[in-house]
Amino acid sequence: MANVVVIGAQWGDEGKGKVTDLLSKSADIVVRYQGGVNAGHTVVVKGQTFKLHLIPSGILYPGTECIIGSGTVIDPEVLLEELDRLDELGISSKNLLISQTAHITMPYHRLIDKASEDRRGSHRIGTTGRGIGPTYADKSERTGIRMLDLLDANGLRESMQWTIAYKNEILDKLYNLPPLDAEAEIDRYLGYADRLRHHVVDASLKIYDAVRKRRNILFEGAQGTLLDLDHGTYPYVTSSNPVAGGACVGAGVGPTIIDRVIGVAKAYTTRVGEGPFPTEMQDGIGTVLCDRGAEFGTTTGRQRRCGWFDAVIGRYAVRINGMDCLAITKLDVLDTLEEIKVCVAYEIDGQRCQDFPTNARQFARCKPIYESLSGWKRSTEECRSLEDLPKEALNYLKFLAELMEVPIAIVSLGASRDQTIIVEDPIHGPKRALLDSNGQPVSKSA
Ligand code: IMP
Repeated sequence: MANVVVIGAQWGDEGKGKVTDLLSKSADIVVRYQGGVNAGHTVVVKGQTFKLHLIPSGILYPGTECIIGSGTVIDPEVLLEELDRLDELGISSKNLLISQTAHITMPYHRLIDKASEDRRGSHRIGTTGRGIGPTYADKSERTGIRMLDLLDANGLRESMQWTIAYKNEILDKLYNLPPLDAEAEIDRYLGYADRLRHHVVDASLKIYDAVRKRRNILFEGAQGTLLDLDHGTYPYVTSSNPVAGGACVGAGVGPTIIDRVIGVAKAYTTRVGEGPFPTEMQDGIGTVLCDRGAEFGTTTGRQRRCGWFDAVIGRYAVRINGMDCLAITKLDVLDTLEEIKVCVAYEIDGQRCQDFPTNARQFARCKPIYESLSGWKRSTEECRSLEDLPKEALNYLKFLAELMEVPIAIVSLGASRDQTIIVEDPIHGPKRALLDSNGQPVSKSA
């Protein structure tokens, strides 16, 4: 048994939804620990596509308990739409639990998110416009409204009257926007409370109970390492902590209960929103990656920026997350390419640099130093074991494992559950995968 954290090793959209879905089969509990409806996890099961923003992908397994932890921010309107959609598809959400201390995204958060982005002009972050930053800002400012407040009708009325009056001043004076109707919003949120009430619990207590019973817990990260508020490419980041350490704070558990950290990375790199991206290719192969990889955001539909795999940020993600192994996704997107490049280091002001520069201005000046590998020019979509892969594809994976100094446990070759090579089960297998950190195959008996 193992308690495992799944994190994104790049700028989000790495395919964590599929990996979490695969691992959820072995998990008793799946916990979302940060972020809100800015996330979008797409899972394809038996040809049906599920788009989840808040509810952990584990909901697709009837026996798995799913918890939305304290570190998340919850937009009840979107959550209820998601629950309705699952219901239409015949998927039960009776196993969904929501932390009573998670903060709630209110209508003024969305308005302020969009208005402040407009006001920033060329300094905009390129947010999803879902009110995420303003919700976390209120949490830090201690003016936020939490799930437990939603359940107390009188308390909610009082808090919302006060906050809406305060936010209306900001909407009017700063952004020249019309005020919100406090009474109408209070009634709307009281309606949400009625529908969500029976899901709300003390999540940390539930999780601790599961820890004591030695149940398998999967902590599902959203966004990615480079979007982390503390460790990402600030200010072009989200407002929470997608890194593995965020799982402890966001779920309400101590670090000693985490057994493993699995990083998910695409076989190339994408980014949505503003901010530096050294390996970005705006046309040519960038367009091929975008088309073949269907690189459009699940939440906003925005086209993602595409580029070669960047092993500098990869190594940084290994370090910041204490990553044990990697899941490489979308390898099949590279199937048609003659030559594949990997960024192995940066050049900054004439100097070679192997380590990710946390100084944003320096990062913006980084030029990628590439190594080239041969492409395989053959479809890998039907491959189900490492032996099935063309030798060039295997070389590519070994090269990535070597550069990142971490073994590869899972390779994904398409959106469906079966388009996967499980090199080694990261939950049940030994704490090492078959491709070791030097990219060498390790025999099972070793
Ligand atoms: P916010 O989280 O909406 O405030 O957006 C801040 C930055 O994070 C923007 O660059 C977004 O595009 C990016 N972002 C937020 N959530 C995701 C995600 O799930 N995938 C990829 N990028 C995201």
